[in-house]
Amino acid sequence: MFKISSLTAAVLLATVAVSARAGEVEVLHYLTSGGEAKSVVELKKIMQAKGHTWKDFAVAGGGGDNAATVLKSRVVSGNPPAAAQVKGPAIQEWAAEGVLANLDKIANAEKWDSLLPKAVADVMKYKGNYVAVPVNVHRVNWVWANPEVLKKAGVAGMPKNYDEFFVAADKIKAAGLIAVAHGGQNWQDFTTFESVVLGVGGARFYNDALVKLDAKSLNSDTMKKSLETFRRIKGYTDAASAGRDWNLTTALVMQGKAGFQFMGDWAKGEFLAAGKVPGKDFLCAAAPGTANAYTFNVDSFAMFKLKAADAQKAQGDLATAIMGTEFQEVFNLNKGSIPVRLNMKMDKFDDCAKTSAKDFVDTAKTGSLVPSIAHGMAVSPAAEGAIKDAVSQFWNNDKISVADAMKAITSAAATK
Ligand code: GAL
Repeated sequence: MFKISSLTAAVLLATVAVSARAGEVEVLHYLTSGGEAKSVVELKKIMQAKGHTWKDFAVAGGGGDNAATVLKSRVVSGNPPAAAQVKGPAIQEWAAEGVLANLDKIANAEKWDSLLPKAVADVMKYKGNYVAVPVNVHRVNWVWANPEVLKKAGVAGMPKNYDEFFVAADKIKAAGLIAVAHGGQNWQDFTTFESVVLGVGGARFYNDALVKLDAKSLNSDTMKKSLETFRRIKGYTDAASAGRDWNLTTALVMQGKAGFQFMGDWAKGEFLAAGKVPGKDFLCAAAPGTANAYTFNVDSFAMFKLKAADAQKAQGDLATAIMGTEFQEVFNLNKGSIPVRLNMKMDKFDDCAKTSAKDFVDTAKTGSLVPSIAHGMAVSPAAEGAIKDAVSQFWNNDKISVADAMKAITSAAATK
């Protein structure tokens, strides 16, 4: 007779149990640059260790516009992925369509409300139910720099305001290098623009103009000054910037071809993936005039309704993994962001991340923690897209006057 030892039986039973529960999890994301790919692979590893199959659905394109288009067609055709990189008010829009899964069972069991800042948890919920899971906090109002370039050009340190910035930029230009590395895509123009508005007008003005979309603020002297400053920065970019991806733009700073780049801290993920050391090979500082303010950008995964039990199980395990301390640490070490889960140890993180973590807490207290409009945190996707286009047209066409740009931005802000 065929005999099996009790140990073998236990192993067999365990295997059966795992495979009965294991499922496939398809994840749509736009984490395709060097640093981003390294971070997302960590999630894949965790899911595979739980016995699930990871189906990668990467859609290249910084800022996620391409991914959003692909997601729409998948959902409309009744075939959504298990999870998709969706954030901010867009989560509410998807939930209102009735296509997102209710994660409350897991969220309650794991006490997510106590693990997340309330402002973040609220964005992840629709009508009080969790429908998405946050992975990180990115700070957008950064400027990155190459210290060698600054030294060569005779620039003493990171510029604290726009007067210092333009003095430094002139010196870098005079040294025959690109002062501002800029990738010419509308979301990159918009990223620079929001940092300029924050630096010129301060957090309260930013909030009135770019979060509340108050028409008076959008047509004010402060907005005029912001647009003038924004246009002036363009004079320091190189002629080849049109259409360039953000990570190739970061590479110009890395290679010592350019001095500065305005970009969120996913740029740090690129420097780190290339083995560069913060404080030595590259510098991070708040964008001019914004040291006491913080534009936040929280990446998250929205979970879509699935039918099969094994797929639901895999999806639930994905949500649990994302909220876990192991993932929150390793993902963010690679991504350039900081963990969104509260009370995480920061000892493995670099000084840029430590500054970000401290400023996140401090600015929340002073009211100068504001959502990034360029990264889907502040207004509806429709208004964001329209304002982004108006800002980009102004950036790309020197014939558009500041007054006309203000008008165009104001009417774009009314887009529903
Ligand atoms: C942001 C996103 C980041 C990063 C960046 C470049 O909108 O939040 O995670 O991916 O775009 O694509």
